[in-house]
Amino acid sequence: MRGLPIRGRNMRKTLCGSTAPSTTSRAQQHPMNPHRQLDVTFARSQFPAFAEPSLEGYAHFENAGGSYPCAPVVQRLHDYYRRLKVQPYYAYPASTEAGEWMDASHVRLAEYLGVTAEEVHFGPSTSQNTYVLAQALRQLLKPGDQIIVTNQDHEANSGAWRRLTREGVVVREWCVDPASGELQIAQLDALLTDRTRLLVMPHASNVVAHINPIAEAAAKARAAGAIVVVDGVAWAPHGLPDVPSLGADVYLFSLYKTYGPHQGLMVVHRDLIEHLGNEGHYFNAYDPRKRLIPAGADHAQVAAAQGIAEYFDALDAHHGGKSASGRAQRVRELLRSAELALLSELLDYLATQKSVRLLGPAKASQRAATVSFVTKVAPPEQIAARLAQHKIMAGHGHFYAKRLVEALGVDAASGVVRLSFVHYTSREEVGALLAALDAVLA
Ligand SMILES: Cc1ncc(COP(=O)(O)O)c(C=O)c1O
Repeated sequence: MRGLPIRGRNMRKTLCGSTAPSTTSRAQQHPMNPHRQLDVTFARSQFPAFAEPSLEGYAHFENAGGSYPCAPVVQRLHDYYRRLKVQPYYAYPASTEAGEWMDASHVRLAEYLGVTAEEVHFGPSTSQNTYVLAQALRQLLKPGDQIIVTNQDHEANSGAWRRLTREGVVVREWCVDPASGELQIAQLDALLTDRTRLLVMPHASNVVAHINPIAEAAAKARAAGAIVVVDGVAWAPHGLPDVPSLGADVYLFSLYKTYGPHQGLMVVHRDLIEHLGNEGHYFNAYDPRKRLIPAGADHAQVAAAQGIAEYFDALDAHHGGKSASGRAQRVRELLRSAELALLSELLDYLATQKSVRLLGPAKASQRAATVSFVTKVAPPEQIAARLAQHKIMAGHGHFYAKRLVEALGVDAASGVVRLSFVHYTSREEVGALLAALDAVLA
């Protein structure tokens, strides 16, 4: 694996690191262009769920479990099922158009991720994608080779890799700080050796939400000759990253948490894919798009996924974006800056609650808009049920980050309360959440 032609990519830092603006007053402003603040009314007008009578009055704070899908995705799914639900890529019109839609999803999402269309792979879920990827990577590993996993990850980016011990691979664990839940970069230095072949880590945790310094960790791992696999599921909804600038060889996330259909997307660097095992049918090995998707593509969902890019296009145009150049960066900054002010409000509020233990960083700049806590007042399930009575949709449990919850000294059987939001969350909804928390935590 050492010496694979996957070196020397652009390592420029992005806003998606821990360098984003932090304070409440500045957070409402666009970090580079103070005139570009999210028009949240416009954003919400692009989501059918906000016009759905049965959801009226409910504030969605379980976005880390699944976001609302945007209108272009819903429309394309509907149209595909009505008009194009035939085998794609044949010469008759419905089939040709179906194939064109699928290809367009590769192209359009690749644009927002800074990669090529061939590097984009759609699978049933991130759990399935990491599972297949681990099988495909297995052939590059020899007994005694070392891989580094974390205990901050969702199990999707953990178990599949840890099971490689069956092949004689040595698993080394990068452990979180038990008080803060953070992965400290100094510890990575101690884990990297000349036998390290792989580093797998999350861009952000789905529980403590700390934004990990991926570019720095990836640079260290790559310098040691390792491949870097990043689970971006808990980060991507807050702004699709420019993947090359992160230095990851593989970047995975889930479209159903990112305003799209129930699919997983993985970016696999073009120089890596040919070294991986072919996990698809043998006669399809020549086609990079089929090598890592043994389940076969869900045609309609792949076809509809381009709707996410169309939504981002509309958002950018509404906020004055005039060309495709720089659009991806403008959109990620727009999403992030919209969340930061509200995130600070929620964190400031929780800091005043003596019964609450916040998990993860207290500073908005260091985390995604996912906020987990435990409280002496009642178990998480009861807190979430009481919040539901106030029409607040919240989650509870360990969210498949069981190792992390345990490392934090929290009983995984009851887990944590999780409140997660995205750019379309309104100030009024956060106000309703704080009022509900006041009642529930009293
Ligand atoms: C951080 C993280 N990684 C991976 C996953 C698994 O994603 P999927 O449901 O697409 O398998 C989740 C799902 O909640 C997650 O939050």
